[in-house]
Amino acid sequence: MGDRVEEKKGVEGSYGGSYSAGLGEQQLKVPYISVGSPFGLEEAQAVIEAMQGETLTMGKFVTKFQEAFAEYIGVKHAVFVTNCTRAMEVAADCIGIEEGDEVIVPAITFVATALPALQRKAKVVFADLEYDTMNIDPNSVAEKITSRTKAIFPVHHCGLPVDMDAINALAKPKGIYVVEDCAHSTGATYKGRQTGSLGDVGAFSFHTIKNMTTLGEGGMFTTNNSEWAEAVRLHRFVGMKEYKDQERYWIPYHYDIVAPSRTMAASNSSMTEAQAAVGLVQLAKLDKMNARRREIAEYWNQEFAELEELGTPPTPEGRTHVYHLYNLYYRKPEKKNDLMILLLDKYGIQTMIHYIPVYWLTLFREMGYEKGSCPVAERIYAEKLDLPIYPQLTDAQVEYVAESVKAAVKELN
Ligand SMILES: Cc1ncc(COP(=O)(O)O)c(C=O)c1O
Repeated sequence: MGDRVEEKKGVEGSYGGSYSAGLGEQQLKVPYISVGSPFGLEEAQAVIEAMQGETLTMGKFVTKFQEAFAEYIGVKHAVFVTNCTRAMEVAADCIGIEEGDEVIVPAITFVATALPALQRKAKVVFADLEYDTMNIDPNSVAEKITSRTKAIFPVHHCGLPVDMDAINALAKPKGIYVVEDCAHSTGATYKGRQTGSLGDVGAFSFHTIKNMTTLGEGGMFTTNNSEWAEAVRLHRFVGMKEYKDQERYWIPYHYDIVAPSRTMAASNSSMTEAQAAVGLVQLAKLDKMNARRREIAEYWNQEFAELEELGTPPTPEGRTHVYHLYNLYYRKPEKKNDLMILLLDKYGIQTMIHYIPVYWLTLFREMGYEKGSCPVAERIYAEKLDLPIYPQLTDAQVEYVAESVKAAVKELN
C-alpha cells in the first residue's frame, strides 16, 4: 500500500496492436496489457532446458505437460495443440459435426467458439445469456434445442463456470454432445470439479492474454474418451503411426500413415518443447496466479457495491471464478462511452469491451442473422465494460482503479 502508480505509454494489443487506436501519446497508469500471466526466471530456465534437449518438438516436455494437465483437470487425456480454436475444431470432428447439424453457442463469446460449426457447414444457433452471470442461459438453450442439435458449446465466460448440471441435463438424454470452451476458465471449478472435465470435451487456450500461457500461443484438448484422444494425437501430426514391436525400427516400415478417424482429417499441429516446458512451470503457478486475480476482483466487488450505478457478476455457490476478465455493469449504458473516455483520458485506465454479440459481426450479418434475437445478451453488451485485471497489478494500482472508477461514475451523475 502507498506504492506509487507509474505511468506508461500505450501498450501493444494481443491482436496486432488493435487496442491502440485513439491512444496517441496517452500516458497509462493501468494499461490493458497483453501478457496475462507473469513470467519469471523459472520460465526462462525451462526454455533453456528445452533448447538443450534431444528434440525441439513433440518430445518429453510435451508428454509431461499433457500428463500434468490431465491430472490437474481430472481427465484421462489431455492433448496439447496449437490453440483453443484448433482444440474445438478437432472436438467438432470427434463428434462428427456436419452439414445440416445445429450447434448451440452463447450469443456473447469470442468468435472462435462458433467457427468449428461454421467450417463444417452446420448451423450456428445463438442462445441468450443469464443477466447476472453473463453465462449461457440453460432456459434459452432448452428453447433452441431441435432434433438437429448435435452439440452445445458452453463458454465459461470471464472464468466463471457455466451451470453445467443444467446444460448436461438438457444434453445427455437427447444424445447431444457438450464441448466446454474453457479459454477463460483454466483452474475454475464447478462443484469441486475442474472445468474441462464436465462435458464430453474441454478446450483450453494458452494465448498470451490468458490466465496461463505457453509462450503466447497454445491450447489443450481434454477428454475421457480414449478413442477421440488417440484421433486428435494422430491428427496433430499427419496421421503418423509409429511401429513399436518390429524387427528393426525401419523393418518392415519406419512408420505408417492412417486416417485419424472417419470424421477427422490429419494435419500438423505439433507443439514445441519450449512451449510445453513453459506450460509446466505456468501450470504449477496457476492456482497462485488465479488466487491473486480473485483477491483483486473481490476487493473491487466490495468497493463497487457502494454505487448503485455499478454491478458485478456474482459467483454462485459451488463455483470458483478465475477472473480471466473482470466485467462491470454500468447501469447507464447511454453514458458508457463517456465513462470509458474519462477513465482513459483523465485517469489513465484502459478499459475494454469483451465481447460484441457474435451475430452482430459482419460475417454473421451477411448470413442473415439479425440484431435483436438475444435481448439479454444485447443488454449486457450495452452495459458492460471490463477493467484491466492481471496478477501483476500492484496493490496501489488495484486501489487506484477502485477510487478512479468510483470518482468517474460520480462525475458523470
Ligand atoms: C471464449 C474464447 N474461446 C476461444 C478462444 C480462442 O482461443 P485461441 O486464441 O487459443 O484459439 C478465445 C480467445 O480469446 C476465447 O476468448
